[in-house]
Amino acid sequence: MFSFLQLLTALSAALLVSAVPAPSEKCCDTSAAVMNLPSNQTALVSPTTAPLYVALGVGVQNYSCSSTTLKYTSIGAVASLFDISCIDKTPAFANIQTTAFKLWDSVPASVTASLIGSKVAAPNLLGYHYFVVGPTGALVPKWDFTSTGKNAGNSSAYVIGAKVGDIASPTTPATNIDWLALNNASGSLASKIFRIDTVNGQPPTSCVAGSANISVKYTAKYYLY
Ligand SMILES: *[C@@H]1O[C@H](CO)[C@@H](O)[C@H](O)[C@H]1NC(C)=O
Ligand SMILES: *[C@@H]1O[C@H](CO)[C@@H](O)[C@H](O)[C@H]1NC(C)=O
Ligand SMILES: *[C@@H]1O[C@H](CO)[C@@H](O)[C@H](O)[C@H]1NC(C)=O
Ligand SMILES: *[C@@H]1O[C@H](CO)[C@@H](O)[C@H](O)[C@H]1NC(C)=O
Ligand SMILES: *[C@@H]1O[C@H](CO)[C@@H](O)[C@H](O)[C@H]1NC(C)=O
Repeated sequence: MFSFLQLLTALSAALLVSAVPAPSEKCCDTSAAVMNLPSNQTALVSPTTAPLYVALGVGVQNYSCSSTTLKYTSIGAVASLFDISCIDKTPAFANIQTTAFKLWDSVPASVTASLIGSKVAAPNLLGYHYFVVGPTGALVPKWDFTSTGKNAGNSSAYVIGAKVGDIASPTTPATNIDWLALNNASGSLASKIFRIDTVNGQPPTSCVAGSANISVKYTAKYYLY
């Protein structure tokens, strides 16, 4: 029988051929990396310094059905963040979020996000993005690099963000979650975080009271400054 793992291996072999560039001398150098932001907006302002990290996020956005509005409301997200600074001069970079999403969307729930990054030219796990309960009791977004890669064991390598800018996805906003700018609220990993180039993640437009919580798969690029 053709097992799921064989399928994934075949699929990823095909992806690897088309998506993985040869390592270049500029590998993992973020000094010339620039965010590609839409010109017709002012809510997201690119810093003038180079990013510290350029990451591909692969994960889920979680939602709960509000029984009063019959709309889904956000209850956080979980994503694995992979280093894509090594491939930012290659043709694969521009659409890596789409390449990753197609694979992520095609695998069953038993396949973790961690595996996806390694299949799309981004084998290095930088860390995780998830939500924690903040000082006011509300959920706040955290980027946590304390347990992985070169920051493993460094308890300072995290940042909690506070949103300062938000635009609808320039492509398919009904499907793709917003692009965001956040400032550092605590932690010393970065002072600014951007979520751009989002693919999917939006919930259905309405829900039936009493519906179960849902997780909607998404990918995005994250730039940390
Ligand atoms: C989101 O849902 C996933 C399961 O799909 C779960 O593992 C995770 O803990 C949830 N996270 C939050 C913040 O709700
Ligand atoms: C900016 O341009 C994109 C298309 O390039 C369009 O979809 C979007 O609505 C525009 N946004 C604003 C705020 O004008
Ligand atoms: C730990 O991480 C913080 C935030 O990224 C960084 O400023 C600090 O230099 C790191 N410490 C070590 C020992 O690498
Ligand atoms: C982030 O904010 C905390 C709390 O205000 C501060 O101690 C830290 O220095 C900031 N780090 C960066 C990198 O901006
Ligand atoms: C849905 O998520 C909310 C917020 O995290 C939680 O309070 C609630 O118990 C969850 N509902 C179900 C049915 O799991």
